[in-house]
Amino acid sequence: MEVLVLPTSADVARRAAEVVIDGLRAARRDEPVLGLATGSSPLGLYAELARAVASGRVDLRGACGFALDEYVGLPAGHPQSYREVLLREVCGPLGLSPGRLHVPDGSGHDEDELVAGAAEYERLIREAGGVDVQILGIGANGHIGFNEPGSALSSRTRVKRLSDRTRHDNARFFDGIDDVPTHCVTQGLRTVLDAGRLVLVASGPGKAEAVAAALEGPLSASCPASVLQWHADATAVLDEAAASMLRNRDYYDASAAGL
Ligand code: F6R
Repeated sequence: MEVLVLPTSADVARRAAEVVIDGLRAARRDEPVLGLATGSSPLGLYAELARAVASGRVDLRGACGFALDEYVGLPAGHPQSYREVLLREVCGPLGLSPGRLHVPDGSGHDEDELVAGAAEYERLIREAGGVDVQILGIGANGHIGFNEPGSALSSRTRVKRLSDRTRHDNARFFDGIDDVPTHCVTQGLRTVLDAGRLVLVASGPGKAEAVAAALEGPLSASCPASVLQWHADATAVLDEAAASMLRNRDYYDASAAGL
């Protein structure tokens, strides 16, 4: 695992975008597949990717996007549904065709429909040849996607209950806590691990504890993001505040300086 610590969240966005672009190039596919996180963490990274597209350095018109997760029960077109967020923040700015954006289906009316939708999502990822580069944020409780603490390390896309912590953290995107859905459909930890490269971005002191547990704690379902330790090509790009509880900082900085 590579750990890159940079002074500010703007630096994080720039550097993470380079890691993503490099990963897409290394995949050497005409139709590369990008795994998309939502939330505030990757917004700067998406803006940097959009800049690279606008300057002609990168062309994502042939690319496919697969979202990590979606809320259950939001009406179609709800501005906080992850499909709408990604159409707004990613498809337009990055020139990714909306027809090539895939988002887990949270519209099922009962458990059977949601379970069938989740299985179909796994099939679509396989059919696309897998995710080449997966962008990740991290929840303050260590979740990635919406794999809350206790999620099976071998999990696949499925319905999950959101933890109270996550619902409170995400209430800022809604009118209030009562409007935050209680359930989601999320890629599983095994699904995430199947991606060719993982790029985790985190900024701010609120993420410091989760980042330390994920990168330096035991590999454990108690901190779902700790599965990064299992992946052969994972990079965590952090600002100083998010990295502030790491113990092996000197080693990471020395490694990042190169040979
Ligand atoms: C959402 C997702 C989540 C977020 C996490 C952090 O698609 O993958 O794991 O990355 O909840 O959210 P922010 O970035 O808003 O702090």
